[in-house]
Amino acid sequence: MKILAVSDTEDTYLEHLIQAHSNKLCKTDCIVSCGDLPKKYLEYVADGLNKSLYFVVGNHFTSQFYEFDAKGAVQTADFEHGGIDLHGRFEIFGDYILVGFGGSMRYNPGKFQFKESEMEKIVKKTMSAVKRRRFFDSMALHKTKDIIVVSHAPVAGVHDKSDMCHSGFKCFGNFISEMRPLLWIHGHIHNENGKKIQQTLLGSTLIVNAVPSKIIEIDNNELSVRQIFG
Ligand SMILES: [Fe+2]
Repeated sequence: MKILAVSDTEDTYLEHLIQAHSNKLCKTDCIVSCGDLPKKYLEYVADGLNKSLYFVVGNHFTSQFYEFDAKGAVQTADFEHGGIDLHGRFEIFGDYILVGFGGSMRYNPGKFQFKESEMEKIVKKTMSAVKRRRFFDSMALHKTKDIIVVSHAPVAGVHDKSDMCHSGFKCFGNFISEMRPLLWIHGHIHNENGKKIQQTLLGSTLIVNAVPSKIIEIDNNELSVRQIFG
């Protein structure tokens, strides 16, 4: 499977590759957005490749995707070629279960920010739903699908920073310990240090920072990550 992951920064080089119908993007199976990108850009990428878009929303541009009322956020984004919000839920994509957690650590009164305890509730609820699905698969199909997680914020202690806005969630680490996902793709962390690829193996889970865009290929559970240079 070949995933194009995008996050946080509009990548002019990616736009050029799409316009040029570049071979680098051929056989892409799906597009994953880790947030903080405007809807127009996501539409451009999804329409250009004509592939399904799975997304979580970050802590910016939230009003382009949600309406907020007293009960919380209601998704309103309507994509021409479909765009599937993964926040706090999962979707089946081929042999994989895609799980999503949007938003960032709460650092001001802005929308789509969560305290650790709030995100922990979302993670626990989602984990239960994924466990039920895997149990059903193991009974009915005698096999389970590998998990790929898409988040905006990072996992605590992996690629995160010390300030509140950019610190990772500890409960994401709990998800990794219990569910052992194959892959965790996040955004929110801009690599000011010039590191072009930021990926870390935590247990058996490869954690990849998608900013600004990455091609992630999975072949018989062997993962490779390529940077599309911006
Ligand atoms: Fe962000």
